[in-house]
Amino acid sequence: MNPEMLRRESVFLRACRKQVVPYTPVWFMRQAGRYQRFYRALRRRVSFLKLCKASELAAEVTVRACEQTGADAAILFSDILLVLEPMGFGVRYEKGEGPLIEDPLRKPSDIDRLRPCPRGSLGFVMEAARMVRARLRPEIPLIGFAGAPFTLASYMIEGGKARSFDRTRALMRRDPGAWDLLMEKISAAVTGLLKDQVSAGAGALQIFDSWAGCLTRAEYRRYVLPHMKRLIGRLPSGTPVIHFGTGTAPFLKDFSAAGGQVIGVDHRIGLAKARKIIGPRFAVQGNLDPAVLLRTPAAIRLHVRRILDEAGERPGHIFNLGHGVLPGTPESHVRLAMEFVREESARRKSKSFPA
Ligand code: CP3
Repeated sequence: MNPEMLRRESVFLRACRKQVVPYTPVWFMRQAGRYQRFYRALRRRVSFLKLCKASELAAEVTVRACEQTGADAAILFSDILLVLEPMGFGVRYEKGEGPLIEDPLRKPSDIDRLRPCPRGSLGFVMEAARMVRARLRPEIPLIGFAGAPFTLASYMIEGGKARSFDRTRALMRRDPGAWDLLMEKISAAVTGLLKDQVSAGAGALQIFDSWAGCLTRAEYRRYVLPHMKRLIGRLPSGTPVIHFGTGTAPFLKDFSAAGGQVIGVDHRIGLAKARKIIGPRFAVQGNLDPAVLLRTPAAIRLHVRRILDEAGERPGHIFNLGHGVLPGTPESHVRLAMEFVREESARRKSKSFPA
């Protein structure tokens, strides 16, 4: 492929498809957020929920974060919990407490309360996606996203970010029929949301099953995997799907059995081991410990090198963190890390495939 064509084609999308790339593409979860000065300034004027719903501002935050960091992909500024509103829940973001869900599901019959989320109900998300697409350089794809049914169910049941997920696990075990119905209702809403984002210009999709790691392998296989397979199977086949979870190391084989093109892994497992378990069918995304970005440039470079060593030269690696950028991370460290990923990976690749 000639260099001009490579420049115009997205390196990120090539890596999702496990094609040869000139360098390892990189973006970070939560690349937009409180670690940024401009974001904090904006948040002093506008609440988080308002920011998500004001398409123009959400688009501005998305594009600015992508350009400031130098990421190879943009992720839409939004939140996985917004879909809970059209489904009938009040959602609040309290300072220092994280999200709170009003009137959580407490018994199986509460599931009847859930409303289907009609196509087009999060119109402000799609509007923001169209604005972002119009403003990004063509070779930078926009990642659309949604929460996975399990992670969303855990918020509906626990009422917020849980420590132990006891209520959620109790419900699935006590009443598997009700659980399957709940998962099916959430899957339907999430499928619509993801398809709408593709129509609005998203070139890839990420499904966040952030808290799946609280489950045992047997629970994942019985109560989550069949729903994830069905959900991913309903998505448009030409758009790469990144399936991300944290704490999934003990059941990574089952986690990857859900399908998609890319498996997102956290920093609690080595990437070489993860790739071995997942197998050659998938690309992988990850997995720098976000806490490393709080350290020195030298430490950051050391850890980036280690991840690139772990990833090896087999095509199909997208560099990312194991989880989102932490508030308090210096902005310069985010930029430096991304720059170094590209520089160091390009150097290694030109050594193994000299021109
Ligand atoms: O840059 C990006 O990654 C895109 C935007 C994005 C946000 N949330 C913005 C956000 C994305 C993709 C999410 C996904 C999300 N939201 C997940 C899955 C990813 C993960 O972190 O595991 C989850 C579990 C949520 C739910 C959620 N929303 C939590 C737990 C919190 C509070 C965390 C905190 O830092 O206070 C939010 C709020 C939230 N979502 C913020 C941002 C930038 C902070 C809001 C603020 O105070 O300004």
